[in-house]
Order: sequence, then C-alpha cells, then structure tokens
Amino acid sequence: QPILKNTKQLTLALLKPDICANAALPPKIFEAIKSRNLDIVKQRQVLWKEEDAGTFYAEHKGKFFYQRLCGYMTSGPFQALILSSPNAIKEWRALIGPTHPVRARINQPDTLRALYGLTDTRNSFHGSDSDETAKNEIGLFFPEFDVDAWHKEQQ
Ligand code: PPS
Repeated sequence: QPILKNTKQLTLALLKPDICANAALPPKIFEAIKSRNLDIVKQRQVLWKEEDAGTFYAEHKGKFFYQRLCGYMTSGPFQALILSSPNAIKEWRALIGPTHPVRARINQPDTLRALYGLTDTRNSFHGSDSDETAKNEIGLFFPEFDVDAWHKEQQ
C-alpha cells in the first residue's frame, strides 16, 4: 500500500494595485503567508487591460461597484500568487479578512485588509472562494500551470 502524502489545495491570491504601488511590498504579507504554512507555488506581476478585468469579474457585471472595481484593478500592476497548503483557500481568506476594510478593522483587526485596505474598492487582496474558482482563476493568470498534473505530482 503506497503512503500518500497529505493532500494539498491550491488557491489564487491577488495583491491588488494599491498595495503594489509602494516601492516594496510590506514584509508582513509574506510573514503572514509563512506563519500559516502557505507555500508560494508561483508568483507573477500582472497588468490588466479593461477586458481582462471584465473576464475575471464577469459574475459582478451590473453590480453598483463593478465599474469602480474594474477601474481600480486596471489602474496599475499587481501581483498574482498561487498558494498551496492542506487548507489553502480558507487559510488565505482568513488571513486577508472581511471584504470591507473598515469592517475588518472593527471585527478582525489582525487581518491584512484591516492593516492595509484603504476603501471598499481598494481592499488590497483577493482570494479564491472554492476549488472550482481557484482552478479557473489560476488558469487565467498562469495558463501554463496544469492544476490537475500538480495535484497528481503531490501524491
Ligand atoms: S458579493 O457581491 O457578495 O459577490 O461580494 P464579495 O464576494 O464580497 O465581493 C466580490 C468582489 O467585489 C468587490 N466588492 C466591491 N468593490 C467595490 N466596492 C464595493 N462596495 C464592493 N463590494 C465588493 C470585492 O472586493 C470582491 O473583489 P475580489 O477581487 O474578488 O476580492
């Protein structure tokens, strides 16, 4: 009977344009990632055109914040990361905290959005919300990365 290693999960994390506008990314972000035993599998700088934002945020088209969100995400370069750990999706979302930084500062002051988020729009971070969306989102940013092959290699 072969011994299987712990199964790992992948998630797609974004460090959005506001946080990448500084000369250097805050080291606290990477300390937080390390503290939760999340591995950075891949990292890439991205600069979106309008249509890239439209593809990524298609499900939000028509919402009151859609134009703002797309305008923000096309305002400058940002970082996309593939993170992995046994529970990567929940771990990363727990680290970044609630969508709205003002609420994060009240309810979860230790989270990254509480520390760095500026407004409801400029909330500095994104994390996939399920295995299915993680796979799709990873495909958008890292088309050369084969999620299924990666999982097989972990076994
Ligand atoms: S929703 O409506 O329940 O799907 O909202 P949520 O999952 O929290 O957020 C989806 C993405 O929309 C962004 N968002 C906003 N942007 C600007 N203004 C407001 N008020 C706002 N509310 C939500 C939110 O940051 C999510 O973006 P990503 O990049 O996926 O984190």
